[in-house]
Amino acid sequence: MNIALKQELPHKPRILPGCELPGYETLFEELSYWIDAERIIGAIPSTLEGTLFYNCPGRNRIGNQQYGHWFDGDGMISAVTIRGGRAHYKNRYVRTPKYVKETAAQAIRYRGVGTRIPGGPLKNMFRAPGNAANTSVVLHGEKLLALWEGGKPWELSPATLQTIGEYDYGGRLSSMQPFSAHPRVDPQTGDLYNFGLFGIPKPKLHLYRVDPAGAMVANTSRYVGDYAMCHDFAIAGRYAVFILCPAFLRTPFKFLLGLRSIFESIEFDTGENTRVVVLELATARVVREFEFPGFFGFHLGNAREQGDELSVDALCVDNMDVMGGLSDVFAERGDDFQFLANGARFTRFTMNLATGAADRQLIAGAIAGEFPAWNPHLTGRDNRYTWLATIIENGTPYSFNAFQKVDHLTGELRVHDFGEGRFSSEPKFIPASAGAAEDDGYLISIVYNHARRKSEIVLTDAVDMQRELAVIPLEHHVPYGFHGNFYQQTFE
Ligand SMILES: [Fe+2]
Repeated sequence: MNIALKQELPHKPRILPGCELPGYETLFEELSYWIDAERIIGAIPSTLEGTLFYNCPGRNRIGNQQYGHWFDGDGMISAVTIRGGRAHYKNRYVRTPKYVKETAAQAIRYRGVGTRIPGGPLKNMFRAPGNAANTSVVLHGEKLLALWEGGKPWELSPATLQTIGEYDYGGRLSSMQPFSAHPRVDPQTGDLYNFGLFGIPKPKLHLYRVDPAGAMVANTSRYVGDYAMCHDFAIAGRYAVFILCPAFLRTPFKFLLGLRSIFESIEFDTGENTRVVVLELATARVVREFEFPGFFGFHLGNAREQGDELSVDALCVDNMDVMGGLSDVFAERGDDFQFLANGARFTRFTMNLATGAADRQLIAGAIAGEFPAWNPHLTGRDNRYTWLATIIENGTPYSFNAFQKVDHLTGELRVHDFGEGRFSSEPKFIPASAGAAEDDGYLISIVYNHARRKSEIVLTDAVDMQRELAVIPLEHHVPYGFHGNFYQQTFE
């Protein structure tokens, strides 16, 4: 198998150009149906039962208007229930004010992170981006919440996906406190930790702790400089780790006056360092800060505390150029398209809390990728394996068309090629059983199959990375999205 980044193979002939584009198209319908075992290719493991909740910007246009950025599409939740060897699919849009008002108007009525309301600056002036509730979905404390990093969660019924309303943890989240799309759950305590980064012109970092019953029991805020971008974070033993990339809100007044979108107002400064801020989870006090030559990244892998040392894994690129490519995902790309820009390099940062010594190393074996996943029983503890979505040369390297499995102990790399014209969502790892080996389990993902013009739920063997144990065909496509989670409960 020829494993490479697309940008390293600019002159190879392409087959099926543009074949990934239908996977971005809006799905307006809201559906609910079973897929019986006889329609499934392969078989769902008999012991597997649970629900994959997944969020995507399912509606990318309204009336005859297209949103200005992929990140501004309205959040559509999919629920894939697996039980008794068959599967059930349903989807429903989150009824945010943006969704409801724009549906009624059949026109853009809200600013987005990369979208302006048509009609000029006066239409946009002093208006905050609308909450699209489109980035992730989490079930915790018996609450199913659709997440978007610039605003509040939206509560949904796990059984019907109907919208219950904006959720603020009984008033514990203030009006100026967003709740990011990347909470982390401590597998030992069941506590959910999350953060928000918001403020104009200087952002504040807010750290939250929610107990297993769903009560927000801690909420602490502090200034961390004027860094404007922090999409993800990690927990590591007793600590929280934030990577603050040198992206700054340089023109806040142009944003406020409606002259620029928020993304157009943020600039990456190549002359500044990237800061890693370590907080103590129990107190939210800053334990230590570290600096590295500037880089940008969306997602962090796992992290762990070992003696005085913390280490955190992250996907790193040199700058924020990738944001431009993500705004025009709906346009056909030529052979020079660089989806991963210069490659999101999987990197381990090691920091000594006692001495301040810091180091970073590329993770052996890994190729460029995104959307890291690991055994959730090991969140915040040392893990041997990480799985990521990646792009390989299989004739259709336009989007994520493969998964990689990285063995942190040996540096061995295993790759699952979905084949030409099959494009995957993020992998989520499902342990085969409570006491199983770390990598004994399945990767569940939603794969758009261009030959069928539809999506399928795919269960891949997480050990050998070769076999697709079950391919569950859907009756439609699921627009490409961002994040979800698998839970052992079922609600169907
Ligand atoms: Fe994310």
